[in-house]
Amino acid sequence: MTTSWGRLPNLRAIANRAVRGRKKGPQAGWQPAAGWHPAPLCLTMEAREAYRILAASYDREPNALISLEERTMLPLLPELRGRTVIDVGAGTGRWASYCRARGAAAIALDFSHEMLCRCACPAVEADGRLLPFRDSCADLAICAFALGYAPGAFRELRRIVRPGGMILASDVHPEAIRSGWTRSFRHNPATISVAHEQYSITQLTASDIVLTRLFEPRLGEPERAIFDRAGCADRFDDATRVPAIFVAQWVRT
Ligand SMILES: C[S@@+](CC[C@H](N)C(=O)[O-])C[C@H]1O[C@@H](n2cnc3c(N)ncnc32)[C@H](O)[C@@H]1O
Repeated sequence: MTTSWGRLPNLRAIANRAVRGRKKGPQAGWQPAAGWHPAPLCLTMEAREAYRILAASYDREPNALISLEERTMLPLLPELRGRTVIDVGAGTGRWASYCRARGAAAIALDFSHEMLCRCACPAVEADGRLLPFRDSCADLAICAFALGYAPGAFRELRRIVRPGGMILASDVHPEAIRSGWTRSFRHNPATISVAHEQYSITQLTASDIVLTRLFEPRLGEPERAIFDRAGCADRFDDATRVPAIFVAQWVRT
């Protein structure tokens, strides 16, 4: 189901309406009658809509994939002082802020106004598939956990990076997606699943860039603690059976 609300939806109200529509559901409120438990409510939304809602809670809880990504990507960052960095699909500006704190002129770009409102960096609200920047203007383009929503943005990352400059990208690993992982978030009382496109890492190529590093790590011990704290310790071993993410570095020729 793709939703299109004019303002933030009240998910509790939606959940209650869905529950009331069922034959044996409670007549009012979210509390189920004794002995009756509603199936979890799962809403699928387009990215722009989903992140409008998720912005308020996006950075609130530790996230195992972000933990794994940060410890994989950090060693790949080039010298940042005095460099121009554009973080595409930046969300709340996690990487843009990191680069800015280390002396880069960093810009966060996202099409979600609500995510950018929580970003401390200079920000541009635009679609990553049509970047409002001139060719070869950036020393470094970063795209973290956003290509799955807009694989077409990769072409734009190539365009804005100068020859000799670098692209760094991370995302949920396509193999994890094929094995049933979803891009979803708990947003009580519902789970929001964000609509995405399937793509492969081999698609992320072109004659004017060279893939210099590719990591396809699985979740490790540092992430086990995050699963434990979230109350899903029993799911951890299963989650380590496939590469969780990829982190790739390209240099523009
Ligand atoms: C999972 S969040 C990642 C945010 C940030 N890069 C990070 O890693 O913390 C995905 C972000 O991509 C943004 N996004 C998705 N499709 C986009 C598009 N076509 N153009 C710009 N931003 C997009 C969403 O609004 C959201 O903020």
